[in-house]
Amino acid sequence: MGFLFHYNLFTFLALFSIIIGKANGGGRDCDLFTGSWIMDPSYPLYHASTCPFIEREFSCQKNGRPELDYTMYRWKPLGCNLTRFNGEAFLEKHRGKSIMFVGDSLSRNQWQSLTCMLHSSVPNSKYNLTRAGDVSTFTFTDHGVKVMLDRNVYLVDVVREKIGRVLKLDSIEGSKLWKGVDMLIFNTWHWWNRRGSSQPWDYIKMGNEIKKDMDRLLAFEAALTTWAGWVDSNIDPKKTRVFFQGISPSHYNGSEWNKPSAKSCVREAKPVVGSTYPGGIPQSLFVLKKALRKISKTVTLLDITNLSLLRKDGHPSIYGLGGRTAMDCSHWCLEGVPDTWNEILYNLIL
Ligand SMILES: *[C@@H]1O[C@H](CO)[C@@H](O)[C@H](O)[C@H]1NC(C)=O
Ligand SMILES: *[C@@H]1O[C@H](CO)[C@@H](O)[C@H](O)[C@H]1NC(C)=O
Ligand SMILES: *[C@@H]1O[C@H](CO)[C@@H](O)[C@H](O)[C@H]1NC(C)=O
Ligand SMILES: *[C@@H]1O[C@H](CO)[C@@H](O)[C@H](O)[C@H]1NC(C)=O
Repeated sequence: MGFLFHYNLFTFLALFSIIIGKANGGGRDCDLFTGSWIMDPSYPLYHASTCPFIEREFSCQKNGRPELDYTMYRWKPLGCNLTRFNGEAFLEKHRGKSIMFVGDSLSRNQWQSLTCMLHSSVPNSKYNLTRAGDVSTFTFTDHGVKVMLDRNVYLVDVVREKIGRVLKLDSIEGSKLWKGVDMLIFNTWHWWNRRGSSQPWDYIKMGNEIKKDMDRLLAFEAALTTWAGWVDSNIDPKKTRVFFQGISPSHYNGSEWNKPSAKSCVREAKPVVGSTYPGGIPQSLFVLKKALRKISKTVTLLDITNLSLLRKDGHPSIYGLGGRTAMDCSHWCLEGVPDTWNEILYNLIL
């Protein structure tokens, strides 16, 4: 009886530790996207000063940002730890392969972060940074790894016609540039709310209807549906891994983090404590998740919204492109928050 009991307990514990064991490195049973930020002096993963190609827009320290705490937070998922990013392992795994970010300046933010993370891990390896049209290519020459960026803010097309510029929700010719890439990381959202002079289209086409405007969330959803259809008919999951970057949040409303007097992220120097953002999650994330559920091919959502919502301290504010005359609480300083997006990406492809 005693033996049997111990035997069963042993089997149970062995089984249990297999399940738990899977979670340790950030495996399948651990939710990498729920957790909290903790100060860890072994971060950041690199210093912006060792990354000569960071654009001025993201170079907060060069632009005069005085405090550095925002660079030293590590994302701690609930119930597991992220495996620390290893640039050499990443490059080795992708030898001869291509990776492409497709989207707006938040994609550029993550693309720059990844090239910095990789370059700083092999600082003596040769690289070549070139641009042709909307595509920028960062090649790690010694490894034959290409890390690319295709600037395409809506994923669907804006076409110049007689009546003016038409945003065509059902047309996705821009996808020509995505063929043959081994890993694709898409993103679109921030441009869907643009109006007035910063809106780069005059009409919007949905089905056979051409309109002056429409509900922007519905337009976003229609575009994602077009994109999802492209994924389903063009992606061979054996050849290409597809990710969606998720919705990168902005911080212009202090009421969302219980500081109603704040009209922006300026002088925010600490993340929100804990795992929950008081302001809740943006509507666009629900729309995105709904669209992703309709795809039959495997697309992994890099669900960075919650963890980034907590980082009201991570934006350039007055240390971005426009300097003191501007306020950027949409992009992220580098080094900074997008490094964590890439560290999570790394954990997903290990
Ligand atoms: C994201 O945050 C919202 C609101 O704070 C919360 O309800 C939700 O459970 C969170 N999701 C994850 C995956 O952490
Ligand atoms: C995460 O890492 C810390 C420090 O190395 C360790 O004490 C802890 O047990 C780890 N947690 C999990 C769930 O693996
Ligand atoms: C960099 O790439 C460009 C465009 O592909 C090519 O013409 C050039 O020779 C490359 N330079 C080096 C140093 O590899
Ligand atoms: C700011 O956030 C609060 C709380 O989420 C909300 O009630 C309010 O409408 C927001 N203000 C603006 C200007 O968006």
